[in-house]
Amino acid sequence: MEKKLYHLPGYYDLAFSYDASGEINFFSECFKRYTDFEMRRILKPACGSGRLLIPLAQFGYYVVGYDISEEMVAYTRDKIAVAGLSHRAEVVLGDMRTARFKDTFDAAINLINTIGYLISDEDILNHFRAISYSLRTGGIYIVELSCANEKLSNEERPDDTWIAERDGIKIQTTWHTERYDLANKRKYNLCKMKIEDEKENRRFMFIEPHIMRLWFFEDFKLLSRAGGFTLRAIYNQNFEPVPLNSHICGDLGNLYFILKKEAEA
Ligand SMILES: C[S@@+](CC[C@H](N)C(=O)[O-])C[C@H]1O[C@@H](n2cnc3c(N)ncnc32)[C@H](O)[C@@H]1O
Repeated sequence: MEKKLYHLPGYYDLAFSYDASGEINFFSECFKRYTDFEMRRILKPACGSGRLLIPLAQFGYYVVGYDISEEMVAYTRDKIAVAGLSHRAEVVLGDMRTARFKDTFDAAINLINTIGYLISDEDILNHFRAISYSLRTGGIYIVELSCANEKLSNEERPDDTWIAERDGIKIQTTWHTERYDLANKRKYNLCKMKIEDEKENRRFMFIEPHIMRLWFFEDFKLLSRAGGFTLRAIYNQNFEPVPLNSHICGDLGNLYFILKKEAEA
């Protein structure tokens, strides 16, 4: 993993935060629809700056987050304490490939393509097995991910620029896909951030590469079976169901995949 973005949690938090209330309501509806027990304990792999962990805890769930970045973990720990949520949330250092919890969670949630940081099939299989180990039978794993188009060419390079401002800090972020490697299922992204921080009297810019898995729906279906998951449903960004037999590709944008840990036969 590359250096800067995930080692500057305050700036990440500002650049990537948005009102999460719609998403939280959607998760709570999914819990009711796809599990048959009361939702209490949620695992948040790669929780970053606690962007979603805090609202989930405020909603009333007990949330455990983990992240590979020490800075993100320290920042989120601080946020939990400041929010007075230490009785409802905790955060630890952990790697998606290996983090396993003895405690049995009711659900796990992994957002904004973060699972894309796992590139090889082996790492992905290990991740699904680890999540399955940490979930109770009948629990669900919600993964937000955008799948690629099979005919993706290197001419198609969507990029996205936005500005976020808070408390005298202004950040312009550009997320740009430089190239796709279809054969090796990799996506070469560049993240460019321009930071103007009046509070700290700092202005700087960085550009860093983020190499990620190029996900195809068929791979997702196959690899997510590890650990006994079945794909129960897919939703789009408007929280509308997408039929499981439809053509799942990049044109649909980021999608929420609902995986359920089934009872062993
Ligand atoms: C795009 S951010 C998402 C953070 C959070 N899930 C959110 O929704 O804001 C990606 C996060 O994944 C973490 N990360 C990357 N690879 C990881 C790994 N192998 N295990 C755990 N965390 C990882 C990074 O440190 C970063 O905090």
